[in-house]
Amino acid sequence: MKNILHIISSPRAEISASRKLGNAVIEKIQEKYADAVVKERDLTKNLVPLLEEVHINTFFSPAESHSSEQAEINEYSTGLISELQEADIIVIDSPMYNFSVPATLRAYFDFTSRAGYTFKYDENGPKGLLNDKKLYIAFTSGNIYSEGPYQIYDSNVPYIKNVFGFYGVTDVSVFRAEGLAIPGIQETSLEKAIEGITID
Ligand SMILES: Cc1cc2nc3c(=O)[nH]c(=O)nc-3n(C[C@H](O)[C@H](O)[C@H](O)COP(=O)(O)O)c2cc1C
Repeated sequence: MKNILHIISSPRAEISASRKLGNAVIEKIQEKYADAVVKERDLTKNLVPLLEEVHINTFFSPAESHSSEQAEINEYSTGLISELQEADIIVIDSPMYNFSVPATLRAYFDFTSRAGYTFKYDENGPKGLLNDKKLYIAFTSGNIYSEGPYQIYDSNVPYIKNVFGFYGVTDVSVFRAEGLAIPGIQETSLEKAIEGITID
């Protein structure tokens, strides 16, 4: 049985292109693994806080020294991390918002990037601790970043790959619905991206 974690970051609901693309990836995975169990982490609900000093102090101190506030913070963070640890397959929906990932996703990474949980340092440097997992990225954008003059602004996909690569997740497939603000492309971009989904 495969555990799928679906990470959602668009605050839009029905009309969200990245959710549609991510949902299509999930459907294709379920076609392959009929008994797959999907868990959703909708980052637009119960927002992950922006990092404050108390969070950083918590993440960089031993659990035995935590105040009750810090114990709660630690429990919340390790809860998010457990979802990643338990997943065999991670599907992450990421629209481009103002040349970046949505702030909710950035905040999520601040709470999941923790030494001893998602990575560690040994004599050879950093080592990812989330091994043997598959990551699918469902990326959507108004402009086109995979090729052409705006390729230098292709921030989301490399960033997400970098974070997950640091966590030890290196088996990554990317599906892109780009040009969603460009007449002549926007009409078919999402449909084509969905048609192009392959699950390995
Ligand atoms: C707040 C906001 C900021 C955006 N910024 C960009 C941008 O910097 N570059 C771009 O190509 N598209 C941008 N777009 C277009 C979105 O990337 C595109 O519509 C995407 O499909 C949105 O995904 P969603 O429908 O899942 O929210 C922006 C859209 C919104 C709503």
